[in-house]
Amino acid sequence: MYAAWTVKHKPRTLSTVVGNREAIEKFRSWVESWSKRVPKKRAAFLYGPPGIGKTVCVEALAHDLNMELVEKNASDYRTAERVQRFAGLASQYGTLFGGRRLVLLDELDGVTGTADRGGIRAVIAVAKDAQCPLVLIANNAYNPRFATLRRHCLLIEFKRPTTLQVIKYLKRVCAGEKIEAEERALKFIAERSGRDVRSAVNDLQALAQGRDRLTYENVAWLSSRDRKEVIFSVMKTIFYSRSCAEAKRAVDIADVDSDMLFQWVYENAPYQLTHPSDLAKAMEALSQADLYRGRIRRTQNWKLMRYVYDFMTAGVAMAREKTKPSGWVPYRFPQRIRWLGRTKGERQMKSAIGMKIKRKCHVSSIVAVKEILPYIRIIFENNPQMRAGITKWLDLDDTMVEYLTHAKT
Ligand SMILES: Nc1ncnc2c1ncn2[C@@H]1O[C@H](COP(=O)(O)OP(=O)(O)OP(=O)(O)O)[C@@H](O)[C@H]1O
Ligand SMILES: [Mg+2]
Repeated sequence: MYAAWTVKHKPRTLSTVVGNREAIEKFRSWVESWSKRVPKKRAAFLYGPPGIGKTVCVEALAHDLNMELVEKNASDYRTAERVQRFAGLASQYGTLFGGRRLVLLDELDGVTGTADRGGIRAVIAVAKDAQCPLVLIANNAYNPRFATLRRHCLLIEFKRPTTLQVIKYLKRVCAGEKIEAEERALKFIAERSGRDVRSAVNDLQALAQGRDRLTYENVAWLSSRDRKEVIFSVMKTIFYSRSCAEAKRAVDIADVDSDMLFQWVYENAPYQLTHPSDLAKAMEALSQADLYRGRIRRTQNWKLMRYVYDFMTAGVAMAREKTKPSGWVPYRFPQRIRWLGRTKGERQMKSAIGMKIKRKCHVSSIVAVKEILPYIRIIFENNPQMRAGITKWLDLDDTMVEYLTHAKT
């Protein structure tokens, strides 16, 4: 599976974090002031909405100032004693090798239940006489249970970056992924995410992974919450219809293209049809739909589209026989938009290689691409000697060899 872009493209240094310059400067100068003398407030309390770079800032600053970062989050706060132990790290002097240390207690909102009172009290105790910068993070610093704690902290508010700043970051991610994206498309994603950088990056990944271009049209179908509701009711119609006619109506209300609809049905089927034989039937219907899709691609005979839709809707609806009703199972946004992975360049490359194989092996180039090329790829990756032989035999050029040796499958 793919790595999450929020992790892959996480800013390592403060200069690549977007937005919140003022908050960042305040935080940086407070941390730096420790090297002169222990400041009045020994703890800094960073707060603000989710996904805007609070955690990332602390990590990036530790990296930039070459400090050791001791980091804990909600799951570590289950007992007061644990909180105490972690927070206590901040009351020890320096680190083993004399480096400087930064202790971060992240997601403080998570200190709940039994750990709550004792936990917060332990944090307060350490905040009072920490020997190194103690950083606290929560979404809402104004929760009443932080009232006493707040008095001992330098409060630093993080705000949502502006749309332009979010776009700037999305552009950087696109550059890293070698995706050429229309400004309008990125603006759309940034606005739709409510300027939550994390969810903007997640949306970008869902929409753009595997593409080399991202246009406004590619993203606009997501335009609003209503759209999401529409696709959900389409899913409901497909998975719960009792008759073919009813299921087929899904197509009339769906406002996504057939590829997108296919992906929605395909990825949701395993969660909606939990009985194996129902799922097998649904998959069978989907594979029929896919066959017709392939035929349309090759022949451009769009009349066949009817069959694609019939299999995708009625075919899947009729699969439900043995699955027990199990309450409402949420629909999922398709994560693997696979056909997007086949970019135009890659398709051309594959068919060029397919033609070469066709000549030597006397099979159609489609069979060559589907059935022979994957094996050649494995050989190319693993056996240089055979690679040389096959290259000569098939008369492949350098770009083809490069593609076969390093392409992702
Ligand atoms: N200001 C930003 N600049 C660049 N990337 C960001 C920014 N904010 C968030 N991100 C991206 O989103 C991911 C999550 O950010 P981060 O963990 O810092 O959010 P947070 O503010 O701590 O959210 P939460 O309150 O949910 O913990 C980062 O790994 C990064 O990819
Ligand atoms: Mg965080």
